[in-house]
Amino acid sequence: MEPTAFTFAIERYDPESDESPRVQHYEVEVTDGMTVLEALLRIQAELDGSLAFRYACRGAVCGSCAMLINGEVALACRTQVNGLWTDVITVGPVPNQPVLKDLVVDMGPFFEKDLAVEPWLQPADPAPEGERLVRPAEWAEAEPYTNCILCASCHGVCPVPARDPEYLGPAALAKHYRFLADPRDAADDERLTLVGGEHGVSACDTVWKCVRVCPKGVPPTKGILVTRERLSSEGDGT
Ligand code: FES
Repeated sequence: MEPTAFTFAIERYDPESDESPRVQHYEVEVTDGMTVLEALLRIQAELDGSLAFRYACRGAVCGSCAMLINGEVALACRTQVNGLWTDVITVGPVPNQPVLKDLVVDMGPFFEKDLAVEPWLQPADPAPEGERLVRPAEWAEAEPYTNCILCASCHGVCPVPARDPEYLGPAALAKHYRFLADPRDAADDERLTLVGGEHGVSACDTVWKCVRVCPKGVPPTKGILVTRERLSSEGDGT
């Protein structure tokens, strides 16, 4: 199939030298199956070496290439240009995070929220010699939440961080529920106190955007609602 020319309208911004973001246009010859990430690599190699973006695995595993593509947050390495069905492709950074340069955002605050929910197993008994085995049926509830790749797509589409930057956010709350639902973990009481404040599960708008955008099928809103129920029932003493 012959290459087709597409226009990429990319948000450029260097906080150290620019007063505000601007849009720069690039014409790219796109071949069948080419991803947005491959198009960005071509722009960087052949048209403009100053364009900044982040990637690593190129296989939808590392989570580092999330960006705003035609107004939707998506992984650039998993988004084919031809599948977007527009001649002009807009590309910008994931919302709700500070921009370091162009499409590269500061993930520091996002990772701090992840650490705030203590994302490690806290069992009651000492470590056995082998693995801590768990039956598949007991593991089923926690399993979907282990698929998170920390791409921050969910954080980028969530309406809450824009008005409450301290909100823990869907990724951290999904990670929190992953351990709350883990039958090997014994720190439920302590864990519930971590997300019971005004910036925890109660702040969620339950619009389910995070569930829709997650490239790995993690359902943060579902976990948030179960956690709310747990907090509510334990607060009632029932
Ligand atoms: S480059 Fe790793 S998820 Fe896209």
